[in-house]
Amino acid sequence: MLIKEGLAEVEISDETKISKKLEVFYNPVMKHNRDISVLLLSAVPDKEMQIADIMAGTGIRSIRFAKELPEGKIKYLAVNDYSSSERIKANMARNGLPDMNVFSQDANLFLLNSKGFDYIEVDPFGTPNPFLDSSILRLARNGILAVTATDTSALAGSSRTACTRKYWAKPLKNELMHELGLRILIRKVQLIGAQYEKALLPIYSYSKDHYMRAYFRCEKGRQKADEIMKEHRYFLYDLPDLSCAEVPKPGHEYAGPLWTGQLWDPKLAKAVCDSYRGEDKELMSFLGVIAEEAQIPSVGFYDIVKLAKIRKVKVKKIEPLLSSTCKRTHFLGWGLRSTGPPF
Ligand SMILES: C[S@@+](CC[C@H](N)C(=O)[O-])C[C@H]1O[C@@H](n2cnc3c(N)ncnc32)[C@H](O)[C@@H]1O
Repeated sequence: MLIKEGLAEVEISDETKISKKLEVFYNPVMKHNRDISVLLLSAVPDKEMQIADIMAGTGIRSIRFAKELPEGKIKYLAVNDYSSSERIKANMARNGLPDMNVFSQDANLFLLNSKGFDYIEVDPFGTPNPFLDSSILRLARNGILAVTATDTSALAGSSRTACTRKYWAKPLKNELMHELGLRILIRKVQLIGAQYEKALLPIYSYSKDHYMRAYFRCEKGRQKADEIMKEHRYFLYDLPDLSCAEVPKPGHEYAGPLWTGQLWDPKLAKAVCDSYRGEDKELMSFLGVIAEEAQIPSVGFYDIVKLAKIRKVKVKKIEPLLSSTCKRTHFLGWGLRSTGPPF
């Protein structure tokens, strides 16, 4: 079956049920994930980038990078997947890119045998954990690491023991679970980075559909890595109070340790939103909400239905509550991001 996405056209399996067993994996739900990676790479000032798509599936993301990114952005693009190099090569040729560098290796071996990259795309089934060490080791100074995790049941608290085992932190299953899970994932990536004296600062992060996603900018140096780790704390949940602390406090529900710094570079979040020229209303609104909430440096947000119950007030609409210090959040339709309770 032939499908079109952005400027790419790829041949995929006729099998409609998505599974790990598919010879070549294409997931239409991840279109927005790929759209945002194209927008983000267009929006950052980096040029002449060496890019590695280490688990490329059909190769669709790399084809889109090659066809949609501005001229001068890519110096070298490596497309790897241990199970589908022939299909990737055929898809590249179909898109007029016959000379692309296609590899068919285990992602870790591929990375460890390489000299390094300015952008590494980690898009596995489930947890990115097995690929973090090699990706971070081969991430260049000032490079960008893009990480997807689809094991949201662990990160968002449905499976607490899995979260402890895989991410070394306690999740919290409530209205904040996706933001807290994302912050737990970010800390895990940063801890692996710190081992190699690399500081990984999130520049654009979100939770959508069945996955969580974070882009990190890498700086090298012990001090910088130490500074990142200072922002690994616990999140205390005691509505209407939301706070962070070095240790959990008796009587408070909590999550963590987790990253309590920025989820977005606000300028980049605006640039990603502004650079979207398409007509997909859902994506436009998603990017717009993130660009707005990126201006508010809070950990967590307020579920206005819960807050209204505590305050014993009626809140009919969210719009009158919006201001320069109180924004919508993409994590929850009836959530408000502000540094203190909005009412
Ligand atoms: C979620 S899919 C990737 C989808 C692709 N990035 C896209 O945007 O369409 C995961 C891919 O990782 C590949 N994969 C899984 N483990 C791998 C490994 N250890 N080394 C290389 N490829 C691997 C699978 O063959 C599969 O195609």
